Amino acid sequence: MTNQSHPLDAPADPFAVAQTAAADIVRLTGVDTHDIAVTLGSGWGPAADLIGETVATIPATEVTGFSKPALEGHVGTLRSVRTPDGRHVLVIGARTHYYEGHGVRRVVHSVRTAAAAGAKTMVLTNGAGGITDTWSAGQPVLISDHINLTADSPLEGATFIDLTDLYSSRLRGIAREVDPSLDEGVYCQFRGPHYETPAEVQMAKSIGGHIVGMSTALEAIAARQAGMEVLGFSLITNLAAGISPSPLSHEEVIEAGQEAEGRISRLLADVIGRIR
Ligand code: HPA
Repeated sequence: MTNQSHPLDAPADPFAVAQTAAADIVRLTGVDTHDIAVTLGSGWGPAADLIGETVATIPATEVTGFSKPALEGHVGTLRSVRTPDGRHVLVIGARTHYYEGHGVRRVVHSVRTAAAAGAKTMVLTNGAGGITDTWSAGQPVLISDHINLTADSPLEGATFIDLTDLYSSRLRGIAREVDPSLDEGVYCQFRGPHYETPAEVQMAKSIGGHIVGMSTALEAIAARQAGMEVLGFSLITNLAAGISPSPLSHEEVIEAGQEAEGRISRLLADVIGRIR
C-alpha cells in the first residue's frame, strides 16, 4: 500500500466518482448504457464468453477509481457483452476485496459504477466455503440472504436502507427455472484474508449461515442502495474449516473453480439470458 491519493478518498463523493467511471466506460466501450452487470468471482470467469458477443474489453485500471487486482486468478478487466437478444451486460472481472484494506468505498465502486452505467440488475458471484455438509466442492448455490460480519457498511452517515429480499426471490426463481436442483443458503461475509477457524465456522452455522466467504455482502448492500435488483451465486470451492476433514488451501480453492468453471459458467450465462 502507498500513501498516494486515490479518486475515492474523502472528501470525494463516491457517487460522483462512479458517474465519472461510467462515462469512462461509455467512452472506452462505445456502449451508451448497460442493462445488467455481473461480477465474476473465482470459478465463474468463462461465463463472459457464454453470455454473448464481447463488444469491448478494457483494463479496469483505465476506469476512474478502479484498483489493480490484488490476486492471481482475478482478472482485472471490464467487458461489454451483447446478449443474443441485444441487451448489454457489463462483466466485471476486477473485484477489490475488503481484506485489501483500501476501505469499503473501493470495494463497492464497481457496483456503483455499474448502476451509474445504467444496470438495473447486479449479479454477484464468488467462490466460497460450504458449511452445509451435504454440499461438495464444485457445486454452485444461490445466495438467499447474508450475514455481514465485517462490522462495516458501504452506507455513510444516517442512510437507512431496507434489506428485506436483498437477494431477489424473483431472480432466484428465474435461476431455478434454469436449474431446479439449485440449493440456496445464507452467505456470511468475513473480513479475511485468513480462512475461518473451525470455531468461527460453527458460530456462522449457529447464527444461520450456510456459506462462508470474503466478498459479496458489502457489494450487495451498495447495489440495493443504488436501487438494483440483486442475484447472488456462490461456487462451493471447499467445505469450510472443520467441516472439511482436511486443511484449506488457496490452491485447492482455485483448482475447484477450474474444474467446475465450464458447468457453472453455462448456468450463469443461461440465467442471465433469462433475466428481464
Ligand atoms: N472461507 C472463506 N472464503 C473462502 C473459502 C472459505 O472456506 N473458500 C473460498 N473462499
